[in-house]
Amino acid sequence: MKAMNEATVAFLSRSANESFARTTAACFAAQLDPTLEEVNDIKTAVSEAVTNCIVHAYPDSLGLIQMRLRLFEDHTLEIQIKDKGVGIPDVEQARKPMYTTGGEERSGMGFTIMESFMDLLKVRSTPEKGTTVTMRRRISRRMGGAG
Ligand SMILES: Nc1ncnc2c1ncn2[C@@H]1O[C@H](COP(=O)(O)OP(=O)(O)OP(=O)(O)O)[C@@H](O)[C@H]1O
Ligand SMILES: [Mg+2]
Repeated sequence: MKAMNEATVAFLSRSANESFARTTAACFAAQLDPTLEEVNDIKTAVSEAVTNCIVHAYPDSLGLIQMRLRLFEDHTLEIQIKDKGVGIPDVEQARKPMYTTGGEERSGMGFTIMESFMDLLKVRSTPEKGTTVTMRRRISRRMGGAG
């Protein structure tokens, strides 16, 4: 399927950019006239994915995070969040609820939240090379809404 529209942003893994990414994704999604619930779900999922890059991918340094937003004709929004950080040795294990390498301050629920708030979650990772998280969410068509 060909994307109707797309946008890519790259930003440093500073914690201030978590809200930048979440708001940017919401602004891009606005052209689909999403419900408040849909926007909030998307923002939550982006927030979890970007926080993971900030805290896990680049634990003691700053690195680049790339977010690609794509919109398809069937009203699906695809969000891809990519880092070039430490990577995940066992993705299947990392996706399990309550699995964390983050110690006491983390609950290990990030991937579980992304999975439940979005229609699809794909995680590809190579240790020492980085991680790419792809999420999709179908936005409902509303009367009078965009296209
Ligand atoms: N981008 C990433 N780079 C490297 N490791 C990651 C990345 N994202 C997730 N992980 C690994 O997967 C584990 C599970 O991630 P998840 O978001 O589910 O939980 P968490 O971040 O540990 O806790 P929480 O999200 O609840 O604060 C992390 O503890 C970390 O080991
Ligand atoms: Mg997390």
